[in-house]
Amino acid sequence: MPLRHVVPSLIREPARALVGFGERSGGEVVRLNLGSFRPYLITHPEHLQRVLREKADNYVRAGDGLQWRPLKRLFGEGILSDGEHWTNSRHILQPLFTARRIDGLVDRLAVAIEEAIDELEEPARTGQPVDMGTVQAQIVCSAIMRVFFADKITVPDAMRIMEAQDAIAWSVMPRIIVPWAPTAAPMPGDRAFRRAVQLIDDLLLPTIRAARDTARDGDDDIISTLWRGRTEDGGQLDERQVRNDTVAMVATTTETTISVLTWLWPHLDRDPAIATRLFEELDRVVGDQPVRHQHLRELRYTRQVLDELLRLYPIGWLFPRMAVEEDVIGGVRVPAGATLVVSPLITQRMSMFWDRPEVFDPDRFSPELVRSRPRYAHFPFGGGPHQCLGMHLFYLEATLIVATLLSRFRFRLQRPSLPGIKVAAALRPLERVEATLHRLPGAAA
Ligand code: HEM
Repeated sequence: MPLRHVVPSLIREPARALVGFGERSGGEVVRLNLGSFRPYLITHPEHLQRVLREKADNYVRAGDGLQWRPLKRLFGEGILSDGEHWTNSRHILQPLFTARRIDGLVDRLAVAIEEAIDELEEPARTGQPVDMGTVQAQIVCSAIMRVFFADKITVPDAMRIMEAQDAIAWSVMPRIIVPWAPTAAPMPGDRAFRRAVQLIDDLLLPTIRAARDTARDGDDDIISTLWRGRTEDGGQLDERQVRNDTVAMVATTTETTISVLTWLWPHLDRDPAIATRLFEELDRVVGDQPVRHQHLRELRYTRQVLDELLRLYPIGWLFPRMAVEEDVIGGVRVPAGATLVVSPLITQRMSMFWDRPEVFDPDRFSPELVRSRPRYAHFPFGGGPHQCLGMHLFYLEATLIVATLLSRFRFRLQRPSLPGIKVAAALRPLERVEATLHRLPGAAA
């Protein structure tokens, strides 16, 4: 795809441009002309399956292309890199996120979420509008810091870290768009990036160091687990890697869920039929009880609504790979060292794989339709050995938040428009969503 098409449209409206590249490719492997850098765009579910799963060893998270190099300055070697460091971190962290362990934490998460939602009684009484992004951040940070970080990081500190992450997500964009710029050459955003990393380190390093001396057998919060964990060959992580993984885990456990849920409210506002079905399901399954573990499996439509949000707004919108050895994908030769663009945002909005892809329709995720679709037509959590560790947590936590909020309140938006998509290092809503809350009569307090 020629430079004169690619670059101007990417600058004007990146999300639309990316989907447009997918549509023009017709599912074939094509190259995007970004000047001296020409990555291969992989959109077809069969090709994605090869890259992410079947030949995962040949497609690594490395190389100079796109976001791994800029983000490495924040996350370093560990769970968000590849090779030996990644293997060690994955081995230590994975047991914390198994479906079984997360299931066992649901009721603790539910109580923490309920307590955070109690704070909304006041704006509901006064009619003061709230910013849904901030409300969700408060809820998610309160629950995650208590259950996964054993309150080692306070909620106000977690909120400051999230602000710094927001600055980082923006400030690395020039380096993502111009990946051939040498690290030593100054770029716009560099100073903001360094300031934000410094703030995160200032907040986290003292906590991380203090936890090294106090971590005891049986402590299962993320920081203690990183200190105490053994790698496959019996070694331990050094301070650098514990820091890298703590930073990565604070980022992935918070901003992901918060960003995805922000789009829920405008969609419910625009689609009364969908909102009514969701409210009816919650009323039937949860009623005026507090939401608990036993309700979650019954909330099937709620899960479909979440899947549809993840289809349209996959916050990990780009996770490039580099080919180690030459390969042939869909008849196209991909040389060693090539960068591959893998993007759920593109595939999940392509008309070749989705009927009326721009329409919000949770019925796409009815069990029959899910079974009839290729695995990699919907892959918001990636796939293969690097598949998201937090997938199960996301579904449970997001369901708890949505069910608890909607069994207590109704939300009226200040502006009914749907926020645009801000294409930063992770995808975010472009505008704030503000709403007034109305308490449901008879709802559990
Ligand atoms: C809710 C808590 C979440 C946690 C704790 C979490 C954690 C992680 C971690 C640790 C990884 C790296 C896995 C590895 O390389 O071995 C990862 C990967 C990933 N996560 Fe999540 N995540 C969460 C939510 C989400 C959400 C909501 C999305 C998308 C909507 C998402 C999308 C992804 C994707 C696409 C990858 C794979 C990247 C790649 O293959 O290079 N995550 N996640």
